[in-house]
Amino acid sequence: MEFHVYENAKAACEAAGVLLAAQITRKGDSVLGLATGSTPIPAYAMLVSWYERGVIDFDRVRTFNLDEYVGIDPQSPASYHYFMHEHLFSKVNLRPENVHLPSGQTAADGRAYDEAIHAAGGIDIQLLGIGRNGHIGFNEPAGEFTYGTHTVTLTQSTIEANARFFASPDDVPRQAISMGIGNIMAAKCIVLVATGSAKADAVYRTIRGPITPRVPASILQLHPCCVVLTDREAGALMMK
Ligand code: GLP
Repeated sequence: MEFHVYENAKAACEAAGVLLAAQITRKGDSVLGLATGSTPIPAYAMLVSWYERGVIDFDRVRTFNLDEYVGIDPQSPASYHYFMHEHLFSKVNLRPENVHLPSGQTAADGRAYDEAIHAAGGIDIQLLGIGRNGHIGFNEPAGEFTYGTHTVTLTQSTIEANARFFASPDDVPRQAISMGIGNIMAAKCIVLVATGSAKADAVYRTIRGPITPRVPASILQLHPCCVVLTDREAGALMMK
């Protein structure tokens, strides 16, 4: 696992954008695993800016998002469909048929998403944020690691953290559909970005703690190509 600390959050996130852009530059039909949340926004802004300047081209790029709330209207501003449309899809030349987000809530819905990833040749580079409790995608702390795309019940901590995107905490959906840890670990390369002091403990436990499904991101220690990028605050406990 590689670990790099940046002076500020914007620089850490833009560094993730650099890695995604490099992947697209080297392989025009790359398969990107994409994440939502506040953290990756500067990375997407970098990609849009490089696209506008003709540096990168999304014409043959395929994308698979990590997760989405169950039952949410894709047009709702709190949905991950909407987020991706706002920050990336509507601003670059990605073909609509090459863009994928998980949907539904049955085991068959999860399997269909896994099969679509497999049919695309697997994920070349997976962008990840991290929850305060060490969740990745919506893989919450649990007794065992998940494998494929599946429905999850969100923890109270995640509902509270994500309530800022909704009118009230009561409006946060209680369930989501998420790629599993197995899907994430199958990516050829992983870039995890964490910023802000609220993520410091999760970063420390991800990199230095025991590998346990109680800290889902800790399994990334076993990935052969995983880069963790943080600002000073999120990396603070690593400096001690
Ligand atoms: C959500 C998403 C995660 C994301 C996390 C952190 O729970 N499902 O993929 O990493 O939020 O979000 P933020 O970057 O806003 O802190």
